[in-house]
Amino acid sequence: MIKSDSLLKNKQILLGITGGIAAYKSADLVRRLIEQQAQVQVVMTEMATKFITPLTLEALSGKSVYVVQDAMAHIELARWADMVLIAPATANFLANLTYGHAHDLLSTLCLATAAPICVAPAMNQQMWHAAITQENCQKLQQRGITIFGPAIGSQACGDVGAGRMLEVVDLIDSLQLFFHKTTQKVLITAGPTREHIDPVRFISNRSSGKMGYAIAEAASAAGYEVTLISGPVCLSSSTATISVNSAQDMYEAVMAQIKNTDIFISTAAVADYRPVKQAEQKLKKTAVTLQLNLEPTPDILASVSNLENPPFTVGFAAETNNLVEYAKKKLVAKKLDMIAANQVGIEGLGFDSEDNALSLFWQDGGLELARANKKILAKQLIDVIIERFNS
Ligand code: C5P
Repeated sequence: MIKSDSLLKNKQILLGITGGIAAYKSADLVRRLIEQQAQVQVVMTEMATKFITPLTLEALSGKSVYVVQDAMAHIELARWADMVLIAPATANFLANLTYGHAHDLLSTLCLATAAPICVAPAMNQQMWHAAITQENCQKLQQRGITIFGPAIGSQACGDVGAGRMLEVVDLIDSLQLFFHKTTQKVLITAGPTREHIDPVRFISNRSSGKMGYAIAEAASAAGYEVTLISGPVCLSSSTATISVNSAQDMYEAVMAQIKNTDIFISTAAVADYRPVKQAEQKLKKTAVTLQLNLEPTPDILASVSNLENPPFTVGFAAETNNLVEYAKKKLVAKKLDMIAANQVGIEGLGFDSEDNALSLFWQDGGLELARANKKILAKQLIDVIIERFNS
């Protein structure tokens, strides 16, 4: 874990406290955040004030505590925050957040803020495992909300299991890691490339870009600064996107962006060959047979991994046969930190489809990510990449 305290320095953290027994830990959380030189503004729900008094939190944060909704407070607070942290977050509050309810100050400002929202759930283990709570958490994560914990252990009600709020030191570590990630850059390539034969004809492939776009969304939701370099696709992304056409364009865009990149994920199905010459005018149908001379395109991935200070480099291997063997060879030949291999040529999987399955390999290990929708798979892949990158 990162121990530097500088990442929370001057960060404006809006701490939302909801009504659970773990609210007593929020007092200590305010102290530790202030120790880390963060500015803390506390907002409580009515129910939370039954567990801990606003006066205690006012004394610790040095700021008036807000409980009641008024005309403008939710907008001002929502704009002030660099981050909204709800700790503890009850099952009821998670449900409100999932469905966009705005019936008190805290839930309203969660709707009004552009700041990232993090929640630290705290509830009885049965309530945590309830299908609806799990479903709500999944929806929140898909919407980019970060969930810290919960921890496993003995509970105030006498049960033992998952549902305890993370300990304050672990919450501080999670926050440090969150802000650390926002300073890190992830560069992703996606989609096919087009290698023009003449102004109207080109060589390309069936890549839809869906996997790369889903990975960009997942990396962005995990808090990273993401740049996507995309070949021609019919998709749009909320992450910063640079559109390119050919392998040469993609190579140049990657090289222009690679400085200070921490993680490079090469999802693009880059054409391996391009016509030696591109005709300036549309070719006429004159000959019975037409010969096309091709030359290799620059290998973008290998160019990145061969840089003097390469980022953490992840390649893809789309194969119709000998998947594992080819992927492992590529991992070594292209000097990669990780390779994600996927079978193509099977209906419903890989190129141009909603689902995929990935076999991940690194130098001394690997992991299978079973068939799933590309968005779910992208999140799982990003989790593994973050774990390997940090280890
Ligand atoms: O060698 P092969 O094309 O099978 O390698 C696939 C991996 O290399 C993918 O990650 C792809 O994005 C990358 N690649 C590249 N530039 C090329 C060809 C492939 O970056 N010219």
